[in-house]
Amino acid sequence: MEGIPGSLGWPIVGESFSFLSDFSKITLSMSYDFNLSNLYGCCFSPSNKNIYGKVFKSFVRGRFTVFMTGREASKILLTGKDGIVSLNLFYTGQQVLGPTTLLQTTGEAHKRLRRLIGEPLSIDGLKKYFHFINTQAMETLGQWQGRKVLVLEEASTFTLKVIGHMIMSLEPSGEEQEKFRSNFKIISSSFASLPFKLPGTAFHHGIKARDRMYEMLDSTISRRRSGQEFQQDFLGSLDNILTLLVAGHDTTTAALTWLIKFLGENPIEEHRQIVINRKSGTDLTWAEVNNMPYTAKVISETLRRATILPWFSRKASQDFEIDGYKIKKGWSVNLNVVSIHHDPEVFPDPEKFDPSRFDETLRPFSFLGFGSGPRMCPGMNLAKLEICVFIHHLVNRYNWRPLEKDNSVQPTLVRMPKNKYPIIKLQTNNRRKDSTEKCCI
Ligand code: HEM
Repeated sequence: MEGIPGSLGWPIVGESFSFLSDFSKITLSMSYDFNLSNLYGCCFSPSNKNIYGKVFKSFVRGRFTVFMTGREASKILLTGKDGIVSLNLFYTGQQVLGPTTLLQTTGEAHKRLRRLIGEPLSIDGLKKYFHFINTQAMETLGQWQGRKVLVLEEASTFTLKVIGHMIMSLEPSGEEQEKFRSNFKIISSSFASLPFKLPGTAFHHGIKARDRMYEMLDSTISRRRSGQEFQQDFLGSLDNILTLLVAGHDTTTAALTWLIKFLGENPIEEHRQIVINRKSGTDLTWAEVNNMPYTAKVISETLRRATILPWFSRKASQDFEIDGYKIKKGWSVNLNVVSIHHDPEVFPDPEKFDPSRFDETLRPFSFLGFGSGPRMCPGMNLAKLEICVFIHHLVNRYNWRPLEKDNSVQPTLVRMPKNKYPIIKLQTNNRRKDSTEKCCI
């Protein structure tokens, strides 16, 4: 790694400690112009440009890692032409998800698994879940009456009910839902933990929770096999259930929470108009939810500004070169997406939340909210559907006020507000005639 700027730190531990310490201090305004040693400090920062440019090396968590940014690097790494890179999961994640996870497969096997999950996650495939999603959004919001709410917790409960229903037709409340929820939380926090499988460690708890989760799935599968139960859910069509849960749950929860935070500062009109234009019926329809162009831009701007997955990690499967830097087989290469999303040349005044940035089509590889190339997010239609439905009912029903002014970000793989975004409802919006009001006010 001699030709690459940066340092590898101490023997054995490398820069892991300063990395973790920097990681726990991040706030949303630290997107490109700050000096944290190795985290996002590369790239477009005016102050750092001359130090690191677009590339630096480090040794973190036992891996020789090159951090990179820029559209050129993202094109090479994300298209992964000729199999030059594979996805780079933490050892603990690999163990928890197992060798057949979509995240560990490449080439033809990867394409085959993508095809399997593609249909149920397509817009047409999602139509049959719309009613459930709509009902859950209304019920979740119905419970916000007159109390302080942690938006992140609420968003998590809502999205977990949706995915539990889609995957295995789980009832939205009751003992099974609780079991599902608690096992998932343990799995999720073990995903990037330290790789010691000793009793008491997060990794050990994660493996145990994974086994309990599979027991739940197994007993549902055997009920199906014995003909006692028939449901049209994912279980019938796929073997990557835990992967979808891990990849889809925290990301959608975080996106919904950040979006509600940004909306508090930038009100949205589109949803009132939808209700005013509604000629017949009282409830949100499938056609309406598929025609929310401004909300679609708000979602993109949220994913840009919050950059829920701050870097995409790949492992070099062969030697190759990016921007003149030689990358050797076996190295980790992390694409820094926060700085790509805050490049002032593509997004002027990058700290500002401004959905109109997405009025025009952007240059390829400058916006990576759902990634790009063969590993682009297969769950994006589902995520957008959940967000559009929830936001529609939220803004039509409530005004709210944040209880804290804090932009700190949780030091986890998926960026979420550290304080879970506490709010208090100010008043109920009574102007609208949709069924959310009828059912819950
Ligand atoms: C707003 C919510 C979401 C965001 C921001 C998001 C973002 C992303 C991004 C950026 C990637 C590519 C990562 C990379 O290239 O390294 C990705 C991959 C993936 N996402 Fe999502 N995602 C979301 C929701 C979902 C949902 C709801 C599901 C499934 C139910 C899902 C399943 C997956 C899977 C399985 C992959 C890996 C694909 C592969 O390796 O071929 N995601 N997601």
